[in-house]
Amino acid sequence: MPKLRLDKFLADQGLASRKELREIIRSGRVSVNGSAVKSADWKVDPESDQICFDGSLITAASVRTLMLYKPLGVVSATEDKNEKTVLDLLPPEYRRMGLSPVGRLDKDTSGLLLLSNDGDFLHRVISPKSAVEKCYCATVEGEPDEEDVKAFQEGLLLRDGTTCLPAKLELLGNDRCLVRVTEGKYHQVRRMLASRGLPVKELKRLSIGGLLLDETLGPGGWKELGPEDLCRVFRT
Ligand code: URA
Repeated sequence: MPKLRLDKFLADQGLASRKELREIIRSGRVSVNGSAVKSADWKVDPESDQICFDGSLITAASVRTLMLYKPLGVVSATEDKNEKTVLDLLPPEYRRMGLSPVGRLDKDTSGLLLLSNDGDFLHRVISPKSAVEKCYCATVEGEPDEEDVKAFQEGLLLRDGTTCLPAKLELLGNDRCLVRVTEGKYHQVRRMLASRGLPVKELKRLSIGGLLLDETLGPGGWKELGPEDLCRVFRT
């Protein structure tokens, strides 16, 4: 494991904020291999160094991934000057674990969002190579029809010249449909439907790969995922 700053290591374990930790470290409450260390930028190797806080051994937290039922009105970011972020929905200890949204949902899109501090997992999910299918339920202005289904299958050309890979459109009747895409371009589903003259009124993500949104969570609810859940993301 590469060496990292003492304050960063302790912050990643959810002990306190970087700012609070600088003060804590300065006061001598943290030791490395038995000796008090008072500088926050001291470099530690969490695998070989014994790092203690008030005498208790602190070990590297395992990687964590959460499922969040993103509500409308919050942004998929870790911080924002003006807007409430998805991290603001979590308890303080989780806000300090280095979690990031795995891909993005628009502020006015709800549904399944993963948050992870596992960089490898995050990159694997969003990599075009993985082609993980995301399923969205959309309510639109107008009524999608079989012509739209065909156009999605063939791969759409958006108004600004962007080309989309073939995608699946499933008609649910009236103004509702399911859209399945393997890409994650900016506002992709809204732009795809708009290109067919079907502006989106409501959009909700239901699944990522074989992992379904747990509807019992309710908007703003979240839960930790285990290895089985994470494998489902890469299955269809
Ligand atoms: N496509 C969109 O247009 N918006 C989202 O939030 C996700 C996919």
